[in-house]
Amino acid sequence: AAVGDPLAHESAALHVTGHALYTDDLVQRTPRVLHAHPVSSPHAHARVTGLRVAPAYDVDGVVRVLTVEDVPGVNDAGVKHDEPLFPSEVMFVGHAVCWVLGETLEAARLGAAAVEVDYEPLPSLVGLREAIAAGSFQGGQPTVERGDVETGIAAAAHVFSGVTEMAGQEHFYLETHCSLALLDEAGQVFVQSSTQHPTETQEIVAHVLGLPSHAVTVQCLRMGGGFGGKEMQPHGFAAVAALGATLTGRPVRLRLTRQQDMTMTGKRHGFHAEWRVGFDDEGRLLALDATLTSDGGWSLDLSEPVLARALCHVDNAYWIPHVRVNGRVAQTHKTSQTAFRGFGGPQGMLVVEDVLGRCAPLLGIDPVELRRRNFYEDGQDTPYGQPVRHASRLATAWDQLLASAEVEQRRAEVAAFNASHPHARRGLAVTPVKFGISFNFTAFNQAGALVHVYKDGSVLINHGGTEMGQGLHTKMLQVAATALGVPLERLRLAPTRTDKVPNTSATAASSGADLNGGAVKAACEQILARLEEVRAGRELTWDDLVREAYFGRVQLWAAGFYRTEGLHWDSTVMRGHPFKYFAYGVAATEVEVDGFTGGYRTRRVDIVHDVGDSLSPLVDLGQIEGGFVQGAGWLTLEDLRWDESGTPSRGRLTTQSASTYKLPSFSEMPEDFRVSLLERAHEDGAVYGSKAVGEPPLMLAFSVREALREAAAAFGPTGVSVDLASPATPEAVFWAVQQARSGG
Ligand code: MTE
Ligand code: MOS
Repeated sequence: AAVGDPLAHESAALHVTGHALYTDDLVQRTPRVLHAHPVSSPHAHARVTGLRVAPAYDVDGVVRVLTVEDVPGVNDAGVKHDEPLFPSEVMFVGHAVCWVLGETLEAARLGAAAVEVDYEPLPSLVGLREAIAAGSFQGGQPTVERGDVETGIAAAAHVFSGVTEMAGQEHFYLETHCSLALLDEAGQVFVQSSTQHPTETQEIVAHVLGLPSHAVTVQCLRMGGGFGGKEMQPHGFAAVAALGATLTGRPVRLRLTRQQDMTMTGKRHGFHAEWRVGFDDEGRLLALDATLTSDGGWSLDLSEPVLARALCHVDNAYWIPHVRVNGRVAQTHKTSQTAFRGFGGPQGMLVVEDVLGRCAPLLGIDPVELRRRNFYEDGQDTPYGQPVRHASRLATAWDQLLASAEVEQRRAEVAAFNASHPHARRGLAVTPVKFGISFNFTAFNQAGALVHVYKDGSVLINHGGTEMGQGLHTKMLQVAATALGVPLERLRLAPTRTDKVPNTSATAASSGADLNGGAVKAACEQILARLEEVRAGRELTWDDLVREAYFGRVQLWAAGFYRTEGLHWDSTVMRGHPFKYFAYGVAATEVEVDGFTGGYRTRRVDIVHDVGDSLSPLVDLGQIEGGFVQGAGWLTLEDLRWDESGTPSRGRLTTQSASTYKLPSFSEMPEDFRVSLLERAHEDGAVYGSKAVGEPPLMLAFSVREALREAAAAFGPTGVSVDLASPATPEAVFWAVQQARSGG
């Protein structure tokens, strides 16, 4: 069997030898390609009062300037119709007013510099607090509510309130946004795109060009990382390239430089949360009242579903009888913030983890005990009304981790270290993750596949999911090999194309393997059923069976379809059963903080994570390690800064390259990193008993932030509660240390 085997990523050898093809690699194989460069706004907010493109044509090698006048269809790149592709009002620094096509990228760049644009600057909102104060909101304002918060607060022995703010995050996928568009026959457009959502890229390209969907084909070979940043953001770039190809008849390549990618494309939403919380005498949560405001940037993009997931994850792993969580999306003059691994879940969960981390000392309860005491029990409902199935698995994983990581003994060692080192402190924190799997929006939980068995017995698999490094294709090969009972070497996986599998959902919400795995398996089972009829109980090799079936005129290929059963969600009242199941995980992290600088090291991380019966254990371990480290980057290193001053550079992203934006690198890896998969964790009703893994491990990194909080607190008197900014950069940790030293 192939499912469950610890295999390397299906493209690992290509990745490490540089032979794996990404969209931009196709440019060298495409003759007569034109290159696209944007004319970008220097203003955070301004009306475009004049546009003179003629000077661009004086530049050698400029072939065409694309403006709003060229759009044959709809001038919009968003699904919410609030994202004009060629805007008459620029909404952030870097916003593209128009695009220049050149024989070389340099020609296009010089042409773009020659275009003359007149701007009438308008007032702008850059900071999230500024936008909240100004009442600048966009989209709906949902509330998740259960019980009666006022009753809960009134009955509470301890009531606390506070504000929690957290920064956004740059995706920093290694491959920046890229599209390559060409014309097939008249009116037929073919777009190669680095996109997590080929179907939606196809739809937006078709809208902009005024074509039916059948005239546009989108292919994604693979992505050099997406992390949610290529769920909605590729569409406009693909549309510009496709428009250019239609107008010039030549292939058009649009690939952003790193700086363009950072200044033009959306990021994780920063959030602001205001909360009141009530505990009983034993530290049990009685009530939580919170208002979460996300920084949506200039347009809605995915801000509403991201907010919905945040509201559905404020509880994390904890039973809270009385809850009211309000959500709002602020509109600011920044990039349009978008999906990022966890999709709002991390931001919602950070609120309750911050609450527990701050309140534990005030309640006089050990944070490990406080968290454990508030866990859901089997059968209890989330605030939006879904029973928490298998809740006891979390307690199992928790107890297992406390034992395997020797948490009790090591906390004693930490205390001894802290008592004997005047200028350094250690902290060891344990935090849980409960993450809902499925798209909240029920309709997106469907997938398709197309499996071909050729006459020679080799098998080609197409499915609707995209590969971004997460190992989806590896898992789909394993599923097909197991379902057909054929060795892996006989199988090949083809790039994702909208003309092979239509109407797909984004590869997102960690559900790629669940959904496409269901579809691949369904296709294989149809083929197998037909082959079994041919076999009629005889012993036959696969090759002989296939040959006989062909000559018997039996169909050797099949389309598979899958939809997740049992889901429902009413977004008007924010109630229902939106998730097929929950993924669980626990992490214990030990850090050491330097009292002079706030600098720190991650000494050891232990993780027990629940992936059900793993489809592919090495791939899953990679996802857990990678997700954890990306989460630690968000929470401790990565510090997005926009210029909020009143100067002409207001609204500019000041951290627009790796020299000013600190990503996790080898020096920040945990010195000792121990990851294990929860055993005996079969999940009924999911493909081969497996669970989704892509996003949940990111949130295990809360343990790093909480360990830093505890280490900082250890510089102060016993029982001091410290606030810690997010990201907890060395500077932020230093201020937390100072707060602890001054008594809280
Ligand atoms: N892993 C790698 N290497 N690269 C990525 O871009 N994206 C993450 C996660 N893991 C990502 C990744 C995100 S945001 C999601 S939703 C899932 O992978 C998507 O893939 P899946 O549904 O197949 O897990
Ligand atoms: Mo992932 S944020 O759902 O692409």
